[in-house]
Amino acid sequence: MSDYQTFEHDVLVIGAGGAGLSAAVKASAAGVKVAVVSKSLLGKAHTVMAEGGMAAAMGNVDDRDNWKVHFADTMRGGQYLNNWRMAQLHAQEAPDRVRELEQWGAIFDRTKEGKILQRNFGGHRYPRLAHVGDRTGLEMIRTLQDHGIHQGIDFHMEVTILTLLMDAGRVVGAFGYDRERGRFRIFRANAIILATGGIGRAYKITSNSWEYTADGHALAYRAGAELLDMEFVQFHPTGMVWPPSVRGILVTEGVRGEGGVLRNKDGKRFMFEDIPANYKGQTADNEEEGWRYTQGDKEARRPPELLTRDHVARCIQREVREGRGSPHGGVFLDIAWIKERIPNAPDHIKRKLPSMYHQFKQLGDIDITKEAMEVGPTTHYMMGGVKVDAESQMSKVPGLFAAGECGAGLHGANRLGGNSLSDLLVFGHRAGQFAAKWAKEHTGGSVNNAQVEEAAREALAPFDREGGESPYAVHHDLQDLMQNLVGIVRVQKEMEQAVEGLQKLRARAEKVHVHGNREYNNGWHMAMDLPNMIEASEMIARSAIERKESRGAHFRDDFPDKTAEGASFNSIIKRGSNGEQVLERVPVTEMTAELKQIIEEMK
Ligand code: FUM
Repeated sequence: MSDYQTFEHDVLVIGAGGAGLSAAVKASAAGVKVAVVSKSLLGKAHTVMAEGGMAAAMGNVDDRDNWKVHFADTMRGGQYLNNWRMAQLHAQEAPDRVRELEQWGAIFDRTKEGKILQRNFGGHRYPRLAHVGDRTGLEMIRTLQDHGIHQGIDFHMEVTILTLLMDAGRVVGAFGYDRERGRFRIFRANAIILATGGIGRAYKITSNSWEYTADGHALAYRAGAELLDMEFVQFHPTGMVWPPSVRGILVTEGVRGEGGVLRNKDGKRFMFEDIPANYKGQTADNEEEGWRYTQGDKEARRPPELLTRDHVARCIQREVREGRGSPHGGVFLDIAWIKERIPNAPDHIKRKLPSMYHQFKQLGDIDITKEAMEVGPTTHYMMGGVKVDAESQMSKVPGLFAAGECGAGLHGANRLGGNSLSDLLVFGHRAGQFAAKWAKEHTGGSVNNAQVEEAAREALAPFDREGGESPYAVHHDLQDLMQNLVGIVRVQKEMEQAVEGLQKLRARAEKVHVHGNREYNNGWHMAMDLPNMIEASEMIARSAIERKESRGAHFRDDFPDKTAEGASFNSIIKRGSNGEQVLERVPVTEMTAELKQIIEEMK
């Protein structure tokens, strides 16, 4: 056996965002030895970009809310491609998970009566997002980290996993390297939970930071798991557009939840132009904050800025494309206007949206209590991911679990804002619980030395090659390709071009050359990340070509309507015998009569 440093655990969690930490805490509480491997430093996770809150039907602000309404909202947001059992479990269990987080030390904003305060968010019928100003994800990570460390979980920071180690079809460990020194490491475990987040770095404009390179998606795929609904990539409507160095950084939906409105360059609230029929007539008064959204135009009383993200993002893109955008290619998001409605509006804004206030002040020299922000869509979240069992979160590969963004099913064709943090808590918890159980019941299995040596050889190959190009050049072209050809608005011809282009990028990635040695070598890290991003990008493009309709986050200019056929299937990608991607349609499973009735009633 190679003499790489080897660590032994029962459960290994790959990823230290909300899902990974929730899973680790739960697994450890079940009495097994747990380690978390994190590509980055502890505390740095895309979870903190879910700023506006976590959705849980606690009914603290509007007592008409309950799990059934949350379930129906989630299914409607996901355009009924969701795994309905996951949507049910999520809606039922989220309130308990939020209360648990509070018991562990999270400090939420409160109502006047001292309950956890809940705010409006897109696609949620009632104020439902438990929040901590606009730093909810951060508070969640802080709380889980504290709790996990005190529970005795081992943390391996700045480690990238390169491959999952297999024995007779089941997962028995992972092989990777520490990013600081470039030393290889073996992690033995009976169960592995992937919680690596999304794929955002495959796109040019994204709210994701450097870690989100589709690692979990690619690791699972190569180990034999199925990938579900990869065509659905969420473009958050509001990212910063200016200055260029910060383009894509998230501007929380909480701004719109607190009354922010979108205007074009002519000052027009363009979102009133395009209200889908199924949203007309709903109300969303925010009594708690003391104002009522009674625009009076059309039939909608709900602010149209809080329609689902796919819809708002497309409306913004339309304004920009048709020449009604802001100077830097976005539109205006105005929260300062609320001074017309409430006293001390600037203080109110700073209290409710402290991060946004500082973000725009420091990065853009804009005072959001006085001026409008410039915003535009940014690649934010991946609905597609590892197909898992709804109850346990285990994939098709024995012993391999996935939770959070790299898992899939809950959100269907489009995730509602705020459903990510509750997803991380509910399904992180479940993954931890079931992985611990699995690990206790499935000991043994051995690491295959040949697999380790092969992975080590492949990892070091970029140092030995003569004359290959820089991995950054390939990444640059990948981001351009995905942004331009498989973005918010898609057409067949462009996506076919994308698939062709991705084959070329794959070939280029196999020949990249890196200089220097293994210590602190960012070029080498990029060379390791590239194949994962390219693999996931090809899955996105192929699944998107196959779905010849528009649904949720997947919008096709050549097929702008939803179809009955589209409602009938989910997309699956698995690895063929020659390593090629095999795409299949699987029929959407039929909901129970009870859940069907809930949806009917909510309509
Ligand atoms: O806009 C936001 O605060 C993001 C929330 C989310 O993605 O759930």
